[in-house]
Amino acid sequence: MIRFENVGLRYGMGAEVLRDVTFHIAPKSLQFLTGPSGAGKTSLIRLMFLALRPTRGLITMFGRDTARIPKSDLPALRRRIGVVFQDFRLLEHLTTYENVALPLRVTGVDEAKYRSDVVELLKWVGLGDRMHVLPPVLSGGEKQRAAIARALIAQPEILLADEPTGNVDPPLARRLLRLFTELNKLGTSVVIATHDINLMNQVDARRIVLHDGRLDIYD
Ligand SMILES: Nc1ncnc2c1ncn2[C@@H]1O[C@H](COP(=O)(O)OP(=O)(O)O)[C@@H](O)[C@H]1O
Ligand SMILES: [Mg+2]
Repeated sequence: MIRFENVGLRYGMGAEVLRDVTFHIAPKSLQFLTGPSGAGKTSLIRLMFLALRPTRGLITMFGRDTARIPKSDLPALRRRIGVVFQDFRLLEHLTTYENVALPLRVTGVDEAKYRSDVVELLKWVGLGDRMHVLPPVLSGGEKQRAAIARALIAQPEILLADEPTGNVDPPLARRLLRLFTELNKLGTSVVIATHDINLMNQVDARRIVLHDGRLDIYD
């Protein structure tokens, strides 16, 4: 679904932060993207979400060369990819329900068509009783789950999660990991960026390891 070939990335005039990166994300696969802080995990996620363009190399997504995708096609393509950002990016003036429903609302779909889906998803992530509060009232773990629900509401084919357990305690981290593995069993590809070895040791999944901008894969 996503394929990188000899991809390089630099910010401005700096040194390359990603070098000769070659890998692919298969349909229905589950993998960890790991490596120390500063290794380039977030940058790689941003490339996979087309929020950044590589400085060299080829990225194909759903069979298309991303360098040739017209800007007008990007929103539709991005809806096939769900992202959970490290800093959640919830809108503070919208309730949990409204935040999660937003990706559908902006497509102009009638609320009656998705209301029950949003409610069901919020229950699935354990926020059934937090639907109508504003994000500032939510705990870190609740915000994390709201961000996950928002990433999933449009039923993406692939979910990218950047340090999804970075701000939660170990029991909740295990719970979130179970949500991701369950989602993967239902057919969604999942990429979890993390430097948490304990988390990775709980699931037998492929590991994409970044160090010094280069990448190794352990199947
Ligand atoms: N917007 C940016 N401008 C310049 N340098 C950046 C930017 N974002 C990240 N970097 C640099 O790129 C490298 C990789 O960062 P990042 O992708 O955030 O790594 P990780 O998520 O693994 O901690 C780091 O050296 C970081 O300082
Ligand atoms: Mg990061």
